[in-house]
Amino acid sequence: MNMNHTTSKTALITGASSGIGKALAENFAKDDYNLVLAARGVPKMQTLADDLQRRYKIGVTVIGADLETDDGAARLHAAIKARNITISALANNAGYATFGEFKDSALAPELALMQLNMNTVVVLTKLFLPDLIATRGKIMNTASTAAFQPGPYMAVYYATKAFVLSFSEAIAAELEGTGITVTALCPGPTASGFQDKANMHASALVKGKKLPTADDVAAAGYRAMQRGQRVYVPGVMNWVMAQSVRFTPRNWVTALVKQMSKPSPT
Ligand SMILES: NC(=O)c1ccc[n+]([C@@H]2O[C@H](COP(=O)([O-])OP(=O)(O)OC[C@H]3O[C@@H](n4cnc5c(N)ncnc54)[C@H](OP(=O)(O)O)[C@@H]3O)[C@@H](O)[C@H]2O)c1
Repeated sequence: MNMNHTTSKTALITGASSGIGKALAENFAKDDYNLVLAARGVPKMQTLADDLQRRYKIGVTVIGADLETDDGAARLHAAIKARNITISALANNAGYATFGEFKDSALAPELALMQLNMNTVVVLTKLFLPDLIATRGKIMNTASTAAFQPGPYMAVYYATKAFVLSFSEAIAAELEGTGITVTALCPGPTASGFQDKANMHASALVKGKKLPTADDVAAAGYRAMQRGQRVYVPGVMNWVMAQSVRFTPRNWVTALVKQMSKPSPT
């Protein structure tokens, strides 16, 4: 891959093979960033890379990475440094959910998603901070509206997103004055590969609903990142719900989410 020498900006996007990450790649490319795309689905990312390189004359590096393994994030960092690439924007976006009652669910996928949704975000942020400080760069962490309250039937997933939101806001405050901005993008349900992967089409959260597209969510999130907004919730109703939980008794909120999320009969 040839990096475009007319631009010195390079964005690393995890989970770039599908959904919001793929759509974020388009936004960064349009803004003249070179890209590093990371996920497991190399053929899909290569197709995207070829398209973006042709349309935007940028450089795109594709790296196959399994980021739910213990050393996946550190290996990705090493692979990028071996190519002498400096990262000036980091989009920690890869993530997934499991759906169902905790008492019945398998432990292994829940531990794997905790590794991906939380540990990988921390490791990549830590390892790329020297690059980001040197370039006065940008961090975008894809959290979720799940971050604002507990989530019955997706208990582990909601807890991971609360972690991402809290972590993002905390380091944003620490990094004040460095020129780095940190944005937690908090989408509500969005049409992507997410619902298939979580096997959650029976959930009342998504069943029969017209969901916003990943393109719309990514474009709005990208603009929020560019203006340095710390927490961005796309969609008015999502924003209202995220705010309303702040002054509603917590057990009411949890009961409401249980009602909204439970598998609905076919
Ligand atoms: N869609 C929603 O309703 C929604 C709402 C709120 C927040 N979010 C968040 O948005 C982010 C993106 O999800 P999406 O909606 O775009 O879903 P998606 O279409 O399923 O995309 C998920 C991405 O994560 C990558 N990924 C999954 N497991 C991985 C692993 N082990 N190693 C590396 N990459 C991995 C996938 O790539 P490979 O499978 O090729 O590895 C894919 O590129 C996630 O953090 C999700 O939690 C989604």
